[in-house]
Amino acid sequence: MLDHAITEKEFGQFSALVYRECGILLPPTKKTLLVTRLSKRLQDLGIPSFQAYYDLIVQDPGGSEFTQLLDLISTNKTDFFREPGHFEFLKTRILPELRPIKRVRIWSSACSSGEEPYSIAMSVMEGVDFPLQWDCKILASDISTRVIEKAASGIYEAERVRDLRPDTLRKHFLKGKGEGAGLFKVKPHLAAMIVFRRLNLMAERYPIKTPLDVIFCRNVMIYFDRATQAQLMAKFQRHLKPGGYLFIGHSESLQWIDHKFRYVAPTIYRNEA
Ligand SMILES: C[S@@+](CC[C@H](N)C(=O)[O-])C[C@H]1O[C@@H](n2cnc3c(N)ncnc32)[C@H](O)[C@@H]1O
Repeated sequence: MLDHAITEKEFGQFSALVYRECGILLPPTKKTLLVTRLSKRLQDLGIPSFQAYYDLIVQDPGGSEFTQLLDLISTNKTDFFREPGHFEFLKTRILPELRPIKRVRIWSSACSSGEEPYSIAMSVMEGVDFPLQWDCKILASDISTRVIEKAASGIYEAERVRDLRPDTLRKHFLKGKGEGAGLFKVKPHLAAMIVFRRLNLMAERYPIKTPLDVIFCRNVMIYFDRATQAQLMAKFQRHLKPGGYLFIGHSESLQWIDHKFRYVAPTIYRNEA
């Protein structure tokens, strides 16, 4: 398959659209990535040029082709217990603080294919003495419908769960047999703790009513510019309880942006409001 050619003007239109709608920066260095990822889509739709594809997207009232575009360009890399220090901190610092009320509300705000929220659920199950006595709810969201569907299915290839401890795997996953051989599915007790939704972090308001104890916003801010990051922090602050925690990714920092969180440890912040 030959890649379609993209003009400077077309690339500019796409990067402006993606930035406006979801905050993701597409600098000129990302041109090859855009062309490689979109060429097949253009071919499948029988669309002759990037200009024609752009016109189709902006004229699509339901925005379904824009969702397709986002699915193609977003980077969804994730893992179970990625950056394990956050899950340790949840178990050893946050859950003990909440023991008197036995209630915890957590948001995995760019959850990709679900490894992050399921890791949170497993940490809660393993971090408290009597999990059945706890009221734990996890909201898991992402802008990409493709990854949200995958996450909600709770089904993973053996290779994805390879690094989980054998007892963790046994406790929280069902091993596929017959047609499902080579697949693992999260057990209902974990799935029941999580609600999956499509949610764009760029939205002015989030449909979240309950004040939160913890927000995971890891490895997504890196695609946003500083102004967008600062707006995001202000919105997060409104949804966190006073004293609530924010986790960001290890290659991310709040150092250069305007925010009112208190630094706790690298990539861990607390709402001081
Ligand atoms: C690299 S993954 C990170 C997954 C997980 N948080 C982790 O650290 O392993 C980044 C995710 O952010 C999502 N994303 C990008 N822009 C977004 C936006 N504006 N709103 C919500 N999610 C977004 C992508 O679809 C992708 O699944």
